[in-house]
Amino acid sequence: MQKKLYIKTYGCQMNEYDSDKMADVMRACEDMTQVETPENADVILFNTCSIREKSEGKVFSDLGRAREIKKLNPNLLIGVGGCVGSQEGEAILKRAPYVDFVFGPQTLHRLPALMAARLATGKSQVDISFPEIEKFDHLPATPTAHGSAFVSIIEGCSKYCTFCVVPYTRGEELSRPVADIIREVESLTAQGVSEITLLGQNVNAYQGLAEDGEVVDFAYLLQVVSALPKVQRLRFSTSHPREMTQRLIDLYVSEPKLAGHLHLPVQSGSDRILAAMKRGYTVLEYKSIVRKLRVARPDISITSDFIVGFPGETEADFEATMKLIDDVRFDASFSFLFSPRPGTPAAEMQDDTSNEIKMARLHRLQERIAALGQQVSDSMAGTVQRVLVENISRKSEAELAGRTENNRVVNFAGSPGMLGRYVDVRIMSGTLHTLRGELVIE
Ligand code: SAM
Ligand code: F3S
Repeated sequence: MQKKLYIKTYGCQMNEYDSDKMADVMRACEDMTQVETPENADVILFNTCSIREKSEGKVFSDLGRAREIKKLNPNLLIGVGGCVGSQEGEAILKRAPYVDFVFGPQTLHRLPALMAARLATGKSQVDISFPEIEKFDHLPATPTAHGSAFVSIIEGCSKYCTFCVVPYTRGEELSRPVADIIREVESLTAQGVSEITLLGQNVNAYQGLAEDGEVVDFAYLLQVVSALPKVQRLRFSTSHPREMTQRLIDLYVSEPKLAGHLHLPVQSGSDRILAAMKRGYTVLEYKSIVRKLRVARPDISITSDFIVGFPGETEADFEATMKLIDDVRFDASFSFLFSPRPGTPAAEMQDDTSNEIKMARLHRLQERIAALGQQVSDSMAGTVQRVLVENISRKSEAELAGRTENNRVVNFAGSPGMLGRYVDVRIMSGTLHTLRGELVIE
């Protein structure tokens, strides 16, 4: 009988991608099928996130619930992967001895081996090493939605921003060779995928080997991927402002397949805070990149990430961030309260600002970002957008959901036969992230 696998994913897009890969490996090697609830599962995997304290805390409360399920089904295997797995390793087994195996983002392809070792030895297993890039050689390529898929091009991060755990949990930047990426993209387009999102913590730090043995940059990779005839739309996430080269910006002129949307985390609008974060750019430099991007692609949508309440952030620093938001007029953004992460330099920094003040700042910033985002959605009313039909709408079976070039979800009436195709949709109205539209019948 086919065994049941339940995966719970916390955190970022990279984790979503990794969870899909875990399901693929387990399907291929263990003949497992993925289920929506943990109660009757044979294996429960937690793909964890340690970027902020809140997400980390949640894992341990969910583990408590899995333990209760295991009491009813002693054959249940519980695995903890992702960044908490990588950071805590053996410590997870001390705190939760009923966990059967612990793995990291770079060892997820070894899941079947870990499970086999657990069953053979009767002992819990831990593998949180960073083996070179071997994981990709063991992972099949599968679409994430109709017509669309993610392809990881670079693992880890070597920027060591003072607040961030990623370089410690995912390791240093390591790029996949160009030929491997092309092979994966071609295998996806052969399955009907036409929109590719190249994925990594810092895609524009890409330094991969080309077939002639030369090391090539991200702009080169983008050109090679967009030259593939079956690729119709190309996205990438996330980029770092420090590596937004002119060559990359120029592609927004020469490469129509490149979607007019860029997620470019800025974190703060204060030079003092940016330096303390070790981000490697100033506000002026960031604004200059945005200006060049808008010259290259006037309607480009720019989204960002912000951290509010970094240690030592004064009222003036915060106002500088609010000014940057108004100057750039971001399309949408994620914003977070600073969360001290053990082992990072910022966790040791002096921090005198009260939580109350930080919360009030976060609230103000989020309101401003939401108001600007709403203006963008309002300004799209009446326009016709080219939309890739990715799914049946979550709200109604009779509706389809697609994404516009600027990455907003649009719901509209249509038939399932349109899944995976590009259609023209006239936008009628919209909230911050979701638009309503109607099909344009030619
Ligand atoms: N690679 C991306 C970049 O270029 O900045 C960021 C990756 S990180 C997974 C996603 C976001 O989480 C960051 O942009 C930052 O805003 C937020 N973040 C990271 N560490 C944080 C912390 N200690 N507290 C609060 N937010 C944090
Ligand atoms: Fe984290 Fe900074 Fe890298 S936010 S993922 S260390 S660019």
